[in-house]
Amino acid sequence: MDRAVTDPQCIKPLLSVLQGQPTSPPPIWLMRQAGRYLPEYRELRAKAGSFLDLCYAPAMAAEVTLQPMRRFAFDAAILFSDILVVPHALGQKLEFREGEGPVLDPISERAGFTKLNREGFLERLSPIFETVDRVKSGLEDNQILIGFSGAPWTVATYMIAGKGTPDQAPARAFAYGDPEGFAELIDLLVDVSVDYLSAQVSAGAQVLQIFDSWAAVLSDDAFETWSIKPIGEMVRRLKALHPEIPIIGFPRGAGPGYVRFAEETGVDAVGCDTMLPLRWIRENLQPKVAVQGNLDPLLLVAGGEAMRTRVRKILSELGDGRHIFNLGHGIVPSTPPEHVGELVRLVREGAG
Ligand code: CP3
Repeated sequence: MDRAVTDPQCIKPLLSVLQGQPTSPPPIWLMRQAGRYLPEYRELRAKAGSFLDLCYAPAMAAEVTLQPMRRFAFDAAILFSDILVVPHALGQKLEFREGEGPVLDPISERAGFTKLNREGFLERLSPIFETVDRVKSGLEDNQILIGFSGAPWTVATYMIAGKGTPDQAPARAFAYGDPEGFAELIDLLVDVSVDYLSAQVSAGAQVLQIFDSWAAVLSDDAFETWSIKPIGEMVRRLKALHPEIPIIGFPRGAGPGYVRFAEETGVDAVGCDTMLPLRWIRENLQPKVAVQGNLDPLLLVAGGEAMRTRVRKILSELGDGRHIFNLGHGIVPSTPPEHVGELVRLVREGAG
């Protein structure tokens, strides 16, 4: 593919890459770019009360979305919310506990599905669509707003275990032990996630990302059934509703399964985790889709020469094709904001 140098006409580098045209330098945004590593986030978060209150308060959620845009002028903002608002809007009890993460009322067997209620689902999420609308008016012309949801598999793992676990064993046991019941839950999540993402697009989101953060724990046939197929179905329905909408899939930890994911789901780009080798990404994924990633978030904590060396390597390995600079997973709270500023400068200067 020809390498196109960004010209002043091409004012939205992220859209350009997602439409098939590489840019130099690549666009940059970072997963969890809004969050606890920023003092201005911690201040506002303390005022908001709980994390969920913040997600459902449009003025504050929009402000938090825009905080990293002001500091770092990323090429894209990502809506400030969480993947678990979907089960919450289906009626599942949810709380984010300090130092513990999400806690849901677990659904350990099929009988528990009766607790879920689709009635009024989108209305309960309406504050989030208002956030989208407010963020849009705070962005520059060349900046894009990314909407998102969790993938059905990843959301289901939290719904079943009721919390984060090291290996999502409860959801795997459910899926292997009662595949029909599990399929019912996945089908429901496909339906409501499409409604949710479609409403984000109608409110102004210009790109969507689907997070399958727990893809790693699935064996290959289960990955096909519970990750590739449902995400493929979501992509088909979303593209039927919004033909122009670019979609990024993030099957974290899927290893060689990334190839089938890129070929079969219909996504425009894949988010690459830190474990994937750069040359492998270049040879196996980049010819098929745009690639996003994959700096180790801990290198952003460390900063200095270790970070600079790796940034140069990523740019030189992936810079000739469609590439969106990002981390391999989200920013961690101990990240010094100055390191993020330096990273953005390095990428924009071609790491010279
Ligand atoms: O800046 C952004 O990236 C946008 C906002 C965003 C959040 N969560 C905010 C958040 C996004 C895109 C997510 C996605 C998300 N949430 C995922 C998929 C991506 C991933 O990280 O793998 C998952 C699995 C979740 C579920 C979730 N939310 C967990 C497990 C936790 C606890 C762990 C933690 O980091 O605290 C959360 C909480 C959460 N989501 C925070 C933020 C800023 C921290 C809560 C706080 O501020 O108190």
